[in-house]
Amino acid sequence: MIEIEGLTKRFGDVTAVEGLTLRVEDGEVFGFLGPNGAGKTTTVRMLACLISKTSGTASIDGYDIGKSADVQKIRKTIGLLPESVGMYDDLSAYKNLDYYGRLYECSEDQRRERIEHFLRLLGLWEKRDVAAGTFSKGMKQKLAIARALIHDPKVLFLDEPTANLDPESAKTVRDFILDLKKERRTIFINTHNLDEAEKVCDRVGILKTRLVAMGATKQLLESLWGRKTVILLTKVDDAIVSAVKRLGPRSVEVDGNRIVVDVGDPALDNPRMVDVIVAAGGRIQGVTELLPSLEDVYLRLVRS
Ligand SMILES: Nc1ncnc2c1ncn2[C@@H]1O[C@H](COP(=O)(O)OP(=O)(O)OP(=O)(O)O)[C@@H](O)[C@H]1O
Ligand SMILES: [Mg+2]
Repeated sequence: MIEIEGLTKRFGDVTAVEGLTLRVEDGEVFGFLGPNGAGKTTTVRMLACLISKTSGTASIDGYDIGKSADVQKIRKTIGLLPESVGMYDDLSAYKNLDYYGRLYECSEDQRRERIEHFLRLLGLWEKRDVAAGTFSKGMKQKLAIARALIHDPKVLFLDEPTANLDPESAKTVRDFILDLKKERRTIFINTHNLDEAEKVCDRVGILKTRLVAMGATKQLLESLWGRKTVILLTKVDDAIVSAVKRLGPRSVEVDGNRIVVDVGDPALDNPRMVDVIVAAGGRIQGVTELLPSLEDVYLRLVRS
């Protein structure tokens, strides 16, 4: 659905995005993570044909972002929640959506049906006649999400969809994204919220001008983090640590009465470790797996 090859954007001397290559499949929810200034918004703006690329190629549903004849087709295919959501402040929520629906040439019936559907789902239906300018940041954000969907796009770009939302509204939006996924829409989300990425994204990519890691969320965690076993002892001493190290694991860390070992295969390695620790005089209180969060992996990657 989205195919990107060597996409690069420079603003004068600043390279915002360099050599980005990735594919987002039909119906997939892809999370784009990265620190401030990583190039996430720039990428989405290029894909939405709002700014030109410097080099490389990208296509959406087969339409080329660099081809002027395809730009209108891309605009009809995609919906965009931009980083800063501009609305017509004097118009009501309903009229804002109706206006954008007209721009996209949606019929009156389509507009009526979709506006009600999305405003209800996002908890704004009661506020439909209130001027958008009086809305709180979070309400504007939700209204802008509805706007992104008014023409029923196949592909949705959401630039930090829950950035201004309180926890309850963030959950409404997350559930909403999962509903959109059930409708087989392709969703590309820029986010700083790692918990959210873990909950809603099938795959994530981590950008720092260049793509530094990418994969299915769970596999990425495992491949970058490894499998770690935590052994809790009544007491850790040098003999026990040396015995574990002799088994040749990738790393052994001692943290108080705990030993954290980077194992290859826990099913095979844990029993061996237990044996050598007991033989070295250790008394084991517990053996557990240390599960990483996306945050652990993300922080390690962006700091390196
Ligand atoms: N119009 C522009 N002119 C000059 N430089 C720009 C422009 N837009 C973006 N940049 C630069 O490109 C880089 C990437 O910015 P971008 O907004 O894409 O980052 P981001 O990953 O979305 O960050 P954030 O998480 O803070 O939203 C930054 O160094 C930024 O200053
Ligand atoms: Mg941004």
